[in-house]
Amino acid sequence: MERTQVAVVGGGPGGYVAARRLGQLGVETVLIEKSHLGGTCLNEGCIPTKALYVATSPLGRRATFARMGITLAAEADLGRLRAWVDEVIGGLRSGVVQLLAGSKVEVLAGVARIVGPGQLRVQTDRGELALGAEAIVLATGSSPIELRGFPFDGERVWSSADALFLRRVPEHLVVIGGGVIGLELATVYRRLGSEVTVVELLDRLLPGVGLSRRGESVVRRALAGQGVGVRLGARAERLTPNGVVLATGSGEEEIPGDAVLVAVGRRPNSSDLGLESVGVRVEKGVVVTGEGFAAAEGVYAIGDVRGGWMLAHKASHEGLLVAERLGATFRSRPLPSAGEGAIPQAIFTQPEVALVGVPVDEATARGLKVARFPFVALGRAWAEGETEGHVQLVADGEGRLLGAEVLGPHASDLIAEATLAIQAGLTAEDLAEAVHAHPTFPEGLWEAALSLLGRPLHSGVVSAR
Ligand code: NAI
Repeated sequence: MERTQVAVVGGGPGGYVAARRLGQLGVETVLIEKSHLGGTCLNEGCIPTKALYVATSPLGRRATFARMGITLAAEADLGRLRAWVDEVIGGLRSGVVQLLAGSKVEVLAGVARIVGPGQLRVQTDRGELALGAEAIVLATGSSPIELRGFPFDGERVWSSADALFLRRVPEHLVVIGGGVIGLELATVYRRLGSEVTVVELLDRLLPGVGLSRRGESVVRRALAGQGVGVRLGARAERLTPNGVVLATGSGEEEIPGDAVLVAVGRRPNSSDLGLESVGVRVEKGVVVTGEGFAAAEGVYAIGDVRGGWMLAHKASHEGLLVAERLGATFRSRPLPSAGEGAIPQAIFTQPEVALVGVPVDEATARGLKVARFPFVALGRAWAEGETEGHVQLVADGEGRLLGAEVLGPHASDLIAEATLAIQAGLTAEDLAEAVHAHPTFPEGLWEAALSLLGRPLHSGVVSAR
């Protein structure tokens, strides 16, 4: 039987980051991956979605440029677009291989299963292998949830992975689920020319992310402007030869759809891992963890499989924390402080949505301070022809920053400054004192901080175009 100090199961942004750090710390580590290194994020999630989002962005900006007097004759060649996405994935994947090799992590291609305390069996293409490990880190991720009546077939009914495969641009795409994945892919396919209808069960879009009601209505208006249809309070009931039947408050209705993307959430990959053999508790599919990510004696869980926000950067953050912890055990290093940090979210719609910390509507209900700076008052936003959106900041009575909501161009980048401010315990005064380059989008954060302090500079100008 082969032996190692730590076995990491799953090579996504949680597992490979944990393994890399363990290797750097000199802990003997084997990483077991059944498919591709990089996991969902790199192979069929964040990275290909962003490659498509960026590649199609000129198509989404045609009307804006036309207003500026520039005509874009943008056309999409699906074959080359797919090749581009593959090139991005391939380049990053080989980077991960090199990183792991560089830190002396052994990578084992196969399916791992725990068979008892400190013992795994790995099914490889050369047969079954027994592996002993003093600690096991589970980083097995999550999978798309299937909806009754809409089984994934990759042809008519797509998972997010199928949608990223770009087999065709449907004439009419029905997106079931107005959450993060649904809206990101609705944006991309609309740009590629599909008629898109998003069907959402609840009475609002992005219900699970803490976006303010005001922010949600900006997103809804923007989608309408792009020609994306949105049906709220509607449940997708069944497929018909030409479409999908919806159940709405006023009865059943059929809408056309030659492809259906089901994006109603993801579930943790916690089955078939032999967890019962080591007493790991699983509740509603989520591996229950305690102090220091421990799921049982010698077993740890990080990332999507332990529930919470299913975000790559959260998984990586947890990977680093668990690695430092195991480093303390195996290499007698000082135990790190276990702060889980402020976790930002970035949603790649048009406009982008980014959030961190206490949500704005919750802050208002709790009587915290909230200030908003609209991008219509920002010089750079005018120059870009993108004046929709805002920065909203949340602070406590002493002005300490607790939350931020950014909606607009580059929101996914802008949220980093707010995240740092919250993590470092900065106040609105600190943010207001920092000089921000002009004309840039980060000035929006600065202006919102000034508003929070009761001395707004440019807000109040409301002549939106
Ligand atoms: P989600 O939880 O964000 O959204 C699912 C949506 O489907 C909800 O709005 C829900 O109300 C709706 N829904 C559920 N059943 C329905 C039905 N029968 N008919 C109509 N609507 C229905 O889940 P999603 O978008 O699948 O994403 C999964 C996970 O992946 C999330 O945790 C998300 O945070 C993460 N993710 C994050 C990204 C990012 O941060 N940029 C990108 C992609 C995924």
